[in-house]
Amino acid sequence: RNLNHVKVDNAEKGAELTYNIIKEELESGRLHVLGLATGSTMVPVYKELTKSNLDFTNVVTFNLDEYVGVTATSPNSYAYFMVEHLFSKKKFKETHIPNGMAENLDEECAMYEMFLEKNPLDIQLLGVGENGHIAFNEPGTSSDSVTHEAYLTESTLGVNSQYFENDDKIPETALTMGISSIMGAKKLILLAFGEKKRPAINKLLEGNVLADWPITELLKHDDLIVITDLEI
Ligand code: GLP
Repeated sequence: RNLNHVKVDNAEKGAELTYNIIKEELESGRLHVLGLATGSTMVPVYKELTKSNLDFTNVVTFNLDEYVGVTATSPNSYAYFMVEHLFSKKKFKETHIPNGMAENLDEECAMYEMFLEKNPLDIQLLGVGENGHIAFNEPGTSSDSVTHEAYLTESTLGVNSQYFENDDKIPETALTMGISSIMGAKKLILLAFGEKKRPAINKLLEGNVLADWPITELLKHDDLIVITDLEI
């Protein structure tokens, strides 16, 4: 398998490495569509991008996921996170995030998947949930899944709800790229830092594809780089 595993000292070093990969792909003309992720893991990565002089004005972005029922102006939404950490500081050609406020969520998902098919991902950045979820593909999600509305597990709600501000109701579902949508990217960069991610990273590095650990689906990809500070 083509699993490239890089051990770094900390999240900042991991972000630098990620930045260097993005820079190389961009400057060699191979980066037109960039898949983005949210979460604390991505904050240092977006810091590297924003302080750089890289020009993304010809790059289209797609985010992995968004909560259902949380408005883009709420600090709890992923749309807000992206504006705060990246889009307010760097200009892109187009930015796409699933609209969790859409009236017809199925239609929104189908449209998002169609946009993705028209703009194949050159790189997809990924974090991982403590239970091994990728985007919001929770344990048991089919490897054939495309963009869909997903129920969040108790574990994910527990971890994510601590970040919820104001009186937004904690969402029960989210719109998320499916495993198949993510696997369509040419290059996957997975970042995982800290002890809480150890179970998921261990499962990945054990090398068996397990339905209960969505992260292990990535083993089927032929260009996956895993960046972690965990000593394995
Ligand atoms: C959320 C997101 C995932 C992300 C995960 C980890 O559940 N949907 O895409 O990988 O959180 O977040 P963090 O980087 O904060 O650990």
